[in-house]
Amino acid sequence: MAITKNTNEMPFLQIKDLVVEYTSDGETIHAVNGVDLSLRRGETLGLVGETGAGKTTIAKSILRILPDRSAKICGGEIFVNGKDLLKLSEPEIQQIRGNEIAMIFQDPMTALNPVKRVGDQIAEVIRIHNSISPAEVEKRAKEMLELVGIPAQRFREYPHQFSGGMKQRVVIAIALACNPDLLLADEPTTALDVTIQAQVLDMIADLKKQKNSSMIMITHDLGVVAEVCDQVGIIYAGEIVEYGSKEQIFDHPTHPYTIGLFGAIPDMNEDEEWLHPIEGLPPDPTNLPQGCAFNPRCPYATEECRKGKIPFAETPDGHLSRCLHTAEVLKKEANA
Ligand SMILES: Nc1ncnc2c1ncn2[C@@H]1O[C@H](COP(=O)(O)OP(=O)(O)OP(=O)(O)O)[C@@H](O)[C@H]1O
Ligand SMILES: [Mg+2]
Repeated sequence: MAITKNTNEMPFLQIKDLVVEYTSDGETIHAVNGVDLSLRRGETLGLVGETGAGKTTIAKSILRILPDRSAKICGGEIFVNGKDLLKLSEPEIQQIRGNEIAMIFQDPMTALNPVKRVGDQIAEVIRIHNSISPAEVEKRAKEMLELVGIPAQRFREYPHQFSGGMKQRVVIAIALACNPDLLLADEPTTALDVTIQAQVLDMIADLKKQKNSSMIMITHDLGVVAEVCDQVGIIYAGEIVEYGSKEQIFDHPTHPYTIGLFGAIPDMNEDEEWLHPIEGLPPDPTNLPQGCAFNPRCPYATEECRKGKIPFAETPDGHLSRCLHTAEVLKKEANA
């Protein structure tokens, strides 16, 4: 069952059966293993999963900025606004990067050029995508800096003169400078403290609303998902294992992995001595388990779960869970 809505409206972003591998030390790393997802204009999709699940790889595949030497898109299609991005020439995709699609990178320390002034790095993206005078470029770049809460007087400073949180805000300013139609936000607030985090999320939401942009919000933080997302995809070992609206996923988590993720959050209303982590470790991406990749950690796993690709099952509230034991899981959860 594909992840599409029952609507005639063409999704703004549609990814079909994306497969991405890396090669490292002669080994093949199966980073993304047949991901389907779709997103309508103005919507925000949260991609949630443990470290190494393939979230950044999906975002980099959309922008086509995976490392040439080690990464390979082995299959799939990525449509944005009706264009198949994987079929565009390099000059064509360059026109789209930073203009139609922009990315807030996970690691602000490596996303900025250490030997270039902060203001020039923001100005550069504005200049590339707009035919306006240098004075107008600088004016807009300064406005962007102020918008993310940094005084315009710091325009001529270098990244090393900024704190980690300020650098992250510069990365956000660069991504937002061209009002992208699609924003790929990869852990945009992880490096920020909680008060700044709230401000930055509000700022992204405002700018997104102004242009009715779509967004993929990559995060470990279910609190961030609750605040900003419309749809949620739970990703495990390079596969989406559960997909639905935020309400469906939060009110009726159905895949055993998702249930484990929610169970690992401490409940502030309970006097609990121990956290409840998911037993076991994420699988080795060079040697994924047969069948459902979660089966070695899953309390419901049977022999059937160790064979072939597991299809999506539709849950009673109409969302999708890639599990053969959906009825049993729901029954047990209802009695819990
Ligand atoms: N350049 C690379 N070369 C080799 N392997 C890579 C490379 N980048 C990522 N990988 C591997 O691909 C898999 C997916 O990585 P990815 O960075 O997409 O995960 P992620 O979900 O973004 O994790 P995190 O939450 O830690 O950011 C991991 O096993 C990772 O080790
Ligand atoms: Mg990542």
